[in-house]
Amino acid sequence: QISGRKTIIANWKMHGNLARNQHLVEKYLDGLQSLHANVVVCVPYPYLAQIQSFLQGTHLAWGAQNVAKFEEGAYTGEVSAEMLRDFGAQYVIIGHSERSTAYCESDENIAEKFMMAKRHGLTPVLCVGETLLEREAGVMERVVGRQLETIVRLFGGEAFADTIVSYEPIWAIGTGLAATAEQAVAMHQFIRDTIAGASKSAAASLKILYGGSVNPQNAIQLLHQKEIDGALVGRCSLEAGQFIKICQSVP
Ligand code: G3P
Repeated sequence: QISGRKTIIANWKMHGNLARNQHLVEKYLDGLQSLHANVVVCVPYPYLAQIQSFLQGTHLAWGAQNVAKFEEGAYTGEVSAEMLRDFGAQYVIIGHSERSTAYCESDENIAEKFMMAKRHGLTPVLCVGETLLEREAGVMERVVGRQLETIVRLFGGEAFADTIVSYEPIWAIGTGLAATAEQAVAMHQFIRDTIAGASKSAAASLKILYGGSVNPQNAIQLLHQKEIDGALVGRCSLEAGQFIKICQSVP
């Protein structure tokens, strides 16, 4: 699934209903015809069948926003990677800060989910990023490095081959305050260098996206950076016009 093109992922988070989803996706499909980007729509679990019915056979892919670290079994409320595949999902967001904080997801837990997704043919989108305090203290690379090194320690650097890492500074998520292109480029370079230290081939096949208050205005500069392979879009993915403009910003 990973091509040389930039990837724009819509993260609907916990938004939507059957009627609104249909309206939004119809407008996406109208506006996202001749594009230079891969576009993925990550929806809440209950809408996987609906998004599959809308996007099957189109140039848009779809996915989920979490996955269980278990294959199957007595895990009430959990959803397995195999179940996501049942609905044609190709991508799954892993370790989003809104989950890791709310549900105390450890780096180890997130690493196991990451590998479970890969084992089942899903492209994991691993979210990493620091808090404002950590950035102000200048320890953002130590924080992001720790998140990446957990996967390397448990599964080896090759685990990152053909996957996606999304740099999402926590202080930029939902705040309207996006990282500057310089800040994002510096962290993307650090992420690629860190993974290259464990596996040069994995680092070469890895896509690194930016997420955190991406909008039609800042998308132009961000998506023109060669170190930024795309974007993970929250709020602006819920308004078709804004999301289409972001996707059209891809050079
Ligand atoms: O996963 C992307 C998301 O966390 C960014 O949200 O609303 O700042 O675009 P938003």
